[in-house]
Amino acid sequence: SVVVLDFGGQYAQLIARRMRDLNVYCEIKSFRTDPEQLREYKGILFTGGPNSAYAPDAPLCSKSVFELGIPVLGICYGAQAMAHLLGGRVEASPVHEFGKTLTSFSEDSLLFRDVPESVCWMSHNDYISGLPEGFSICAQSAHCPVAAMEYPGKKLYAVQFHPEVEHTEYGNQIFRNFLYEICGCRGDWKMASFVEETISALKERIGGKKVLCGLSGGVDSSVAAMLVHRAIGKNLTCIFVDHGLLRKGEGNLVEQVFRREFDMNIIRVDARERFLQKLKGAEEPEEKRKIIGEEFIRVFEEESQKLGKVELLCQGTIYPDVVESGTGEAAVIKSHHNVGGLPEDIGFEGLVEPLRDLFKDEVRRAGIELGIPENLVWRQPFPGPGLAVRIMGEITEEKLDTLKEADAIFREEIVNAGLERSVDQYFAVLTANRSVGVMGDGRTYGVTVALRAVTTTDFMTADWARLPYELLGKASNRIINEVPGVNRIVYDITSKPPATIEWE
Ligand code: XMP
Repeated sequence: SVVVLDFGGQYAQLIARRMRDLNVYCEIKSFRTDPEQLREYKGILFTGGPNSAYAPDAPLCSKSVFELGIPVLGICYGAQAMAHLLGGRVEASPVHEFGKTLTSFSEDSLLFRDVPESVCWMSHNDYISGLPEGFSICAQSAHCPVAAMEYPGKKLYAVQFHPEVEHTEYGNQIFRNFLYEICGCRGDWKMASFVEETISALKERIGGKKVLCGLSGGVDSSVAAMLVHRAIGKNLTCIFVDHGLLRKGEGNLVEQVFRREFDMNIIRVDARERFLQKLKGAEEPEEKRKIIGEEFIRVFEEESQKLGKVELLCQGTIYPDVVESGTGEAAVIKSHHNVGGLPEDIGFEGLVEPLRDLFKDEVRRAGIELGIPENLVWRQPFPGPGLAVRIMGEITEEKLDTLKEADAIFREEIVNAGLERSVDQYFAVLTANRSVGVMGDGRTYGVTVALRAVTTTDFMTADWARLPYELLGKASNRIINEVPGVNRIVYDITSKPPATIEWE
């Protein structure tokens, strides 16, 4: 495996992820790590960072890192730190480079094997203006004379640009060269190893303690719970709060998979009536969200108190949820709570968050490794407040039933059309609109269901999906025919922005 030394860059996790994509396991450590603890690795990468390497308080590692005989690749600030530490010169560059920058590479550099002149992503105020002894220049751009430098005899390499970001065209090739050619990694690490290693690390960390997990049926909490279950079996208890706002059949699916197939300890709390009562009269979206969030915590607390002493809380926090402050030691790391926002003071000794280094698609791959069925692993995201934000205005049992049926039909038709992986989120909304229709020989005055389907990568922006008319027609017909009270279907063709994905 290799190690990323974090100098406070934003991209430490992204670099680690690129290594894993190349089938090399990668850990992240603080730049302060004792070099003796780095001996076990086949390669070391330095991240970028916001500082100037020559500033008095700059984060710098020990110089002995370069004497370990382990290949080092410095990136951006990491490159400058290497130059500075080894006696080169770093200073503010006369022209700052930001963004896509055409860069040329020296042909005989092992790091740039099979890398032609191409675009690299630059983002720097300082640059290396003088090489340390023994180094030579191996890449250049218009405003950066040392876009990369190397000392192959000592296996030291440094690049001013960011090979980890997508905009660097040959970034992966450069990493491949570093890992396979320079570090001698074999590239035989697989998600299966992550799963096995995480399970044994969890065993060791948790020991005989008891763990509680809030299972929502979402991908992240499911995969996290499975990992912990594989590590400690029945010492894990999952609480699954059924607030009645889940999609049709979802509560049963979760229970089926986790209790029956995996024999996990699950408490399914039937809180449907309770939530409906609390939601009575609430029409405003934020009010509904608040009521659901608070009630969720109350139910969770009540159930966990019944269990007696439970030391640890397991959460499905994944990397994009983690707001990280730099290098791990001052590190106040803030957790995003996946499960309805559980408060910190609920009385646990600590948190277990086995997925906090992974990106969403890696979590899915881990889920598959763990044997979780594909239909659960590839589940589209679902908001914590559930169908409550897909019913405009007040929630009633009747409206919930109507929406569940309409939504199930739409989802089924998307699956029948083979589109469930190409559309990122799709669902039905029960609008507050009523309109006149005619069915048989009679007049109807029914509700309008809106269908929504979007494509997106990050859910921050989204485009409405150009679903085939055929599919829309079929879903519309079926909903009208099969769901009583619905007499009109509309398709939402707004992107985000200006609309949001959900209607409330
Ligand atoms: P919007 O509607 O803001 O949604 O474009 C973006 C993504 O977030 C989900 N979403 C929520 N998830 N609690 C959640 O856990 C919420 O209150 C909530 N509101 C929206 C939404 O489903 C979409 O994936």
